[in-house]
Order: sequence, then structure tokens, then C-alpha cells
Amino acid sequence: MRISIIGGTGNLGKGLALRLGKAGYHIFLGSRLMEKAIDAANEIKEKNPDFKIEGLDNIQAASMGDVIILTVPFKSIEEIMTGVCENAKGKVIIDTSVALIPGKPPTTERIPEGSVAQKVQEIVGEETQVVSAFHTVSAHLLNDLDKELSGDTLIAGDNQEAKEIVMTLAEKIGLRPLDAGPLRVSSTLEDLTSLLIGMNIRFKKKSIGINFVNI
Ligand SMILES: NC(=O)c1ccc[n+]([C@@H]2O[C@H](COP(=O)([O-])OP(=O)(O)OC[C@H]3O[C@@H](n4cnc5c(N)ncnc54)[C@H](OP(=O)(O)O)[C@@H]3O)[C@@H](O)[C@H]2O)c1
Repeated sequence: MRISIIGGTGNLGKGLALRLGKAGYHIFLGSRLMEKAIDAANEIKEKNPDFKIEGLDNIQAASMGDVIILTVPFKSIEEIMTGVCENAKGKVIIDTSVALIPGKPPTTERIPEGSVAQKVQEIVGEETQVVSAFHTVSAHLLNDLDKELSGDTLIAGDNQEAKEIVMTLAEKIGLRPLDAGPLRVSSTLEDLTSLLIGMNIRFKKKSIGINFVNI
């Protein structure tokens, strides 16, 4: 399976590229600037010569993947998704974004559509399946391939087949995926990111995650 990462030069995008590349997936790392994507992909390839990874601009990257992961700041979502929308048609989009309001602790902005993931679904239209995921996995931990991942990751979406694809990806990188329900619960998932950032600050940690019990 081929996976495109929009905003793949950032903390979360690069971390997911490393973990999914290690799991054997072919990665297309996207950036607004093709050169920046190529440099980031080459840097990963130098340290991990067996990885299949290429850098492209976001729009080209979106055309290459079977699954597209969105790892960009909330303020850029509308512009980016309008740009890649055509190349994403009929595919699965994994939205990881959070409308963070910086602070100690940070909080999240209320989104008229209900959540960032629902906003993305409105932009791309019903032919494309948006799944909300990976909100509680620390980018810091993802970027350290010497450390195993553990814990749960909540997955929300309206299409079961799309959710199962995302659950398989989560499992392949060492997380336990849990089906959290339809896309409209995504605001709760997105709020967990700001909660965990606040807890990392309070406990002086970098990679607090979540674990559900008695499931
Ligand atoms: N970091 C985490 O642990 C974590 C965990 C859960 C969820 N999230 C969410 O995941 C998303 C990505 O987080 P991140 O920490 O990886 O973000 P980031 O490093 O700040 O940004 C990711 C990439 O987005 C692109 N970008 C930055 N500003 C942009 C703008 N104004 N317009 C268009 N593209 C822009 C950049 O790529 P180019 O310059 O190459 O285009 C950048 O490398 C955010 O929505 C965040 O809330 C993060």
C-alpha cells in the first residue's frame, strides 16, 4: 500500500513516515515546497536505506497514495485540502489535525462543522472517506525509532472499510487501534491532543499516551 503524507516534513508527519516506512509501506512525503520534501525524504532514506520513501509537493504526493495522511496546522487545512481535494477523490484521508489554541495548557478552538475532521470531510465531499486518528500518539516518540510504540489510538469515521484500513496501519506500527465511533466524535479525539500536551508540560514528559482498560 502507498501512503501519502501531506505536511510530511513536520513533527507528526515525519514521525508517521518513519514508523510506516519501517513497517514496509511506500511513503510519499509531501510539502508545500518540493525541495523541502525531497530533503526530508533523503534524510530519512540515508538513515534507513531499505525504506521506500520519496519527496514530492503536497498535490503530487496526494495523487500517489492509496491512503493520504493529513498532518498540517489547522489554519492551513482549508487551503491545503482545496488544493489536494481532486487528487484525493475516492481515497481514504486520515486526519490528525487539531485546532490548537496555544497556552499552558493549550485548548482547542470550537469548529462550526463540529470538528476538524468533519470540516475536512465537508471540503473533500462524500466520495472521499475521512477517518480521524493518531491524535494521542506523541510525535516525539514516533521520531525515535529505537523506542517501541505502545498504548491505544482512537479511530473515528463513518465508513467501516476505511476505518479498518486505518486500524491495520495503527496495528502495524505497534499501537492498539480502538473504534471510537462515527466521525462526529472526532472533536473528543482532537481535544485529547491538547489535554495530553498540557499533561506532558505538567508531568515534564514528552510522550504521554492513553490506554483503555476492560475492553
Ligand atoms: N505533534 C504531535 O505530537 C501531534 C499529535 C497529534 C496531533 N497533531 C496535529 O497534527 C498536525 C501536525 O502537527 P505537527 O506538530 O507535525 O505540525 P508542524 O510541524 O507545525 O507542521 C507540519 C507541516 O505543515 C506544514 N505547514 C506549516 N505551516 C503551514 C501553513 N501555514 N500552511 C501550510 N502548511 C503549513 C509544514 O510543511 P511544509 O513547510 O513542508 O509545507 C510543516 O512541516 C497539527 O494539526 C497538530 O495539531 C500533532
